[in-house]
Amino acid sequence: MIINPPTADLLSSLLAQADFLPRLPQGRRLYEATKAAILSQQLSPGSKLPSTRDLARDLGIARNTVIGAFDQLLAEGFVSTATGSGTYVSTTLPVAIRPKGKVADSPESVPVNSFSGAAPLSRRGAHLTGFAAGERFEIQPFAPGDCDFSMFPFKIWQRLQNRVWRDSWSELLDYGKSGGYLPLRRAIAEYLRVSRSVKVSIDQVMITAGTQQSLDLCAQLLADVGDTAWVENPCYWGATRVFESCDLNLHPIAVDSQGMAPSESDFATKPRLIYVTPSHQYPTGAVMSLARRRMLLELARQENAWILEDDYDSEFRYTGRPFAALQGLDTHGRVVYMGTFSKVLYPGIKVGYLVVPPVLVEPFKSALYDLHRPGQLMIQAALADFIALGHFTTHIRKIRQAYSEKRELLRKTLVSQLQQTITVSGEESGLHLVVELPDHVDDIALESLAAESGISVKALSRYYIAAPVRRGLLVGYAYVNMDKIVYYGKLLAHAIQAQTRS
Ligand SMILES: Cc1ncc(COP(=O)(O)O)c(C=O)c1O
Repeated sequence: MIINPPTADLLSSLLAQADFLPRLPQGRRLYEATKAAILSQQLSPGSKLPSTRDLARDLGIARNTVIGAFDQLLAEGFVSTATGSGTYVSTTLPVAIRPKGKVADSPESVPVNSFSGAAPLSRRGAHLTGFAAGERFEIQPFAPGDCDFSMFPFKIWQRLQNRVWRDSWSELLDYGKSGGYLPLRRAIAEYLRVSRSVKVSIDQVMITAGTQQSLDLCAQLLADVGDTAWVENPCYWGATRVFESCDLNLHPIAVDSQGMAPSESDFATKPRLIYVTPSHQYPTGAVMSLARRRMLLELARQENAWILEDDYDSEFRYTGRPFAALQGLDTHGRVVYMGTFSKVLYPGIKVGYLVVPPVLVEPFKSALYDLHRPGQLMIQAALADFIALGHFTTHIRKIRQAYSEKRELLRKTLVSQLQQTITVSGEESGLHLVVELPDHVDDIALESLAAESGISVKALSRYYIAAPVRRGLLVGYAYVNMDKIVYYGKLLAHAIQAQTRS
């Protein structure tokens, strides 16, 4: 039998620490101190604890307080009692706090072991969570990708939501079983036909919880483990995360001024999925040329591959009409088109949509329901009214105008401050521009330097998943007040100058 003579000393020294849960009652503190000692194995498995009477005396507290703490430890499985012989530290731990270690004989208990190392994730889990760009960074001036949701018409939305709640029927509180709220699917189909030249019937439209979910469905249903996904390099990290989570192999394809640019050698790696952002390559801003669109469509036809067209911010084109979608050119049903309301309305709305070829309608509908149990029909109903009553078009017009002015002011500020030293690109559409930097400039260090001035730009090199990597900064102009652009623009320019010189 193992005995811990200094138990009272150990607990007493833990309890004496000023920062050891000072606001909790005495009994709770004793319970926490004993538990901590057990988990850290300062009290080893199987060792005998002092009697409640002795411990109360040694610690100078009421015996009932000790009994209460021990009872709690007993109830939670940290200690056990043997009639007439006292209280012992368990040789097993409760399932909920199993440490990493040897697999136990019994599925309900494991030998006590030390808590060490990282969280017990799968290899995939560790890979997916070890990715810094996945963090939601604080929205500060120039944060790329964020729309100015302070311009969202709150009052109109509130009125529409109130009406939905007042007039609607209980089915809207159920799961969405058939691809989403029908009037919303109708409104989206109409919008896409007119504004994006998408070839679509209502049946082909499915409402999802945003692009991530759309991509996940496509990857789950259209590709098998080990299949290859061609992705743009640089690429939207949200897409590569999803493909990796489905155990697909990523094949990065370089991007030039005409979008995804496969070389001869790329064609040797046959794709199952081809993920592209043709209207506004994310993050470089390149628009895919017609020749490239045709080439990819032909490739998809030959290889029975699927093109996943992410049309995430096509509403924001500042010169001329928005480009038509790639899907509209598809004559063989190889394109799955997806869009989102994250950029035009607000990110937390989490409503996106898929337009799938007719042959995929039924499988996608049933998988959407089986895998994701979609809901939020009330929001979908308000959104359907928002579009049908013309508020959506008005809102887009308003924010496009505002972003266009901000973009111009930011571009002018940067160009006048930096003169010939840099090139600004990708500013014809979207919500950010790209400041291109020479290869020797560490854009990640520059990102940190800018952050010291309260600016949230993102390093271009972060978006590459393979060499060669280009250096630059993504500078968002949507979520920044017009009257702050010159001030922060100058700060950013100083940071760029400092970093390019060093
Ligand atoms: C390329 C791209 N697609 C889609 C999205 C939006 O995804 P979601 O609809 O999941 O918010 C983003 C957001 O930044 C993006 O950059």
